[in-house]
Amino acid sequence: MYNLDVIVDRRNTKSVKYEEMDINFGSNDLLPFWVADMDLKCPDFMIECIINRAKHGVFGYSKRMPEFYEAIVNWLRTRHQLEVKAENIEYGPGVVFLLNMMIRKFTNPGDKIIIQSPVYYPFRKIVEGNKRIVSDNTLKFENGRYVMDFEDLERRAQDPQCKMMILCSPHNPVGRVWTREELKNVVEICYRNNVLLVSDEIHFDLVYKGYKHIPVLNIDEKYNDNIIICTAPSKTFNIAGLHSAYCIIPDPEKMKKYKEELHLLDLNRSNVFSQEVTQAVYEKGADYVDKLVEFLEDNMNFVHDYVKENIKGITAYKMEGTYLMWFDCRALGLSTEELDDLFFKKARIAFDSGYWFGEAGKGFMRMNIACPKSMLKEGLERLKAAVDQL
Ligand SMILES: Cc1ncc(COP(=O)(O)O)c(C=O)c1O
Repeated sequence: MYNLDVIVDRRNTKSVKYEEMDINFGSNDLLPFWVADMDLKCPDFMIECIINRAKHGVFGYSKRMPEFYEAIVNWLRTRHQLEVKAENIEYGPGVVFLLNMMIRKFTNPGDKIIIQSPVYYPFRKIVEGNKRIVSDNTLKFENGRYVMDFEDLERRAQDPQCKMMILCSPHNPVGRVWTREELKNVVEICYRNNVLLVSDEIHFDLVYKGYKHIPVLNIDEKYNDNIIICTAPSKTFNIAGLHSAYCIIPDPEKMKKYKEELHLLDLNRSNVFSQEVTQAVYEKGADYVDKLVEFLEDNMNFVHDYVKENIKGITAYKMEGTYLMWFDCRALGLSTEELDDLFFKKARIAFDSGYWFGEAGKGFMRMNIACPKSMLKEGLERLKAAVDQL
């Protein structure tokens, strides 16, 4: 029913993944496995949704109707067992936009904000860009798995200058789906120390067999006024180009402040197509997501096994969620420049360099595995050939 394993030529479609490689990699002539955007065609119902709306031919200001919010409420209920009222949900044009808004509305310049590196690199950028200070509760890498350092987290949260924590759940790039126990610790530490917890759950739908995403709002209701979730359908359904995201803010006072700012900036209106598609995917997309997760899991196993059997000095760790795979290349003994050179110049494959995610990411590379198998195979064969030449 869904044929995910087909190559779609994306060159010359104004795609960041294809047309902006020159900025980071010096050329657009690489095979791209960077940026979290899937080389997979959307299911037909999404394409039809856009065509049907386009056929109407009038694209004036659009209004988000109650059905829009209901679709989100139902998705959260059925996929994540999270009960949220429509009035606690509000639109934003992107998750990074929403995180910026939370920083600006709920902290002040000079405040400290906790992040857990190696982590999605805009986290550091937006904290520092807004003149706040990063407090880095670096993840610990133990036996091939990243875990949180709770003693360090508590110490950082106790600092009176610390006002917010931005959690990445599931975690990009280390692929962890945090357990209830881990999340309970985070939620309690933040609550005890009056640190507002902002949880980026954009990867929440893409979780593999044996793991379960727990929204931080499902730990215990008593903590919920101290929590904001920012998420979107954009990773799950590959619609980052449509700019549709939303936040869940249980505390009415905080929601009021967020909405005031959204209106002030005149960013309250969503794009007609993004609005229609967001509602459609949450109403009709469950079956597609189940198939997509199976497809991604198969890709993950393929990459893991290929690297294990063929590429000496690199370990590709299986992730618990997300379609971003973390390659440990430290055994190659290369400097960061040499590692970049190996991937970008010799193998001609674009990966996100581990150090972009913070010091703790040095010696690692991140691969986006959301593409047809033939593309994965070609990328890995290029990598093997380059490593064999070392
Ligand atoms: C953890 C995380 N948050 C946010 C984003 C980007 O979200 P948006 O495009 O809605 O700003 C990404 C994209 O890769 C991500 O991995």
